[in-house]
Amino acid sequence: MRIPLVAGNWKMYKTAAEAGEFVQQLKTLLKDVQGVEVAVCPPFTALYAVARELAGGKVALGAQNMHWEEEGAYTGEVSPKMLKEAGCRYVILGHSERRQYFQETDQMVNKKLKAALKWGFVPIVCVGEQLAEREAGKTAAVVAGQMEKSLDGLNSEELAGVVIAYEPVWAIGTGRTAQPEDAQQVNSFIRELLAARAGRPAADKVRILYGGSVKPENIASLMAQPDIDGALVGGASLQADSFAAIVEGSRLRGRA
Ligand code: PGA
Repeated sequence: MRIPLVAGNWKMYKTAAEAGEFVQQLKTLLKDVQGVEVAVCPPFTALYAVARELAGGKVALGAQNMHWEEEGAYTGEVSPKMLKEAGCRYVILGHSERRQYFQETDQMVNKKLKAALKWGFVPIVCVGEQLAEREAGKTAAVVAGQMEKSLDGLNSEELAGVVIAYEPVWAIGTGRTAQPEDAQQVNSFIRELLAARAGRPAADKVRILYGGSVKPENIASLMAQPDIDGALVGGASLQADSFAAIVEGSRLRGRA
């Protein structure tokens, strides 16, 4: 059974003070929520403030990125050891904005993923095609390539503990959500890739999220799809009421 996961990716929004206030509201809204795992992924500077507010509650903490080394001369980077101490359970890896603006490659995502597993994080690995690639009919090839290289060298047990987020780049921050059936098609393709690599039992355990303009209005139709196991939410995770509504809408059922 796959428990749905809803993760809020705050990107470069909210100071530590703003984040602390936000989480207080969110905790109240989500205090009785069940049947779904919830995480917020603030900027690094807000991790401690958010961890303090979340302590002992149901909402987990995640980071938006991570370096693969434990420490070293890597100006501007943050290590797994630091994120562990800050209280993170999840870490987003290979988000399309990191790939697009910071030249992150599948090989880097692969190193980060191995480090994340070694340090006991639940990694959320993002894959997804650009608009031109979709229009050229290359979605499957692009996603298969990203999966192949990002997940290289992981055994079945490790793969079973990874979360994949399918985020078509053209749907991120654009208000243009993929049709639930189109998202389902790619998510089910991702599960088949996982099954070919790690076997059916492992593939059936993996939570495959959808991300890209998820809102309270479209979460139910996305979650009605058999291979959409939750959401990675950007813009709509920045307001406590809309994020809570998405969490509520994704809680409908566990996955067989
Ligand atoms: P969005 O972002 O919900 O604002 O489209 C999703 C993401 O980037 O993870």
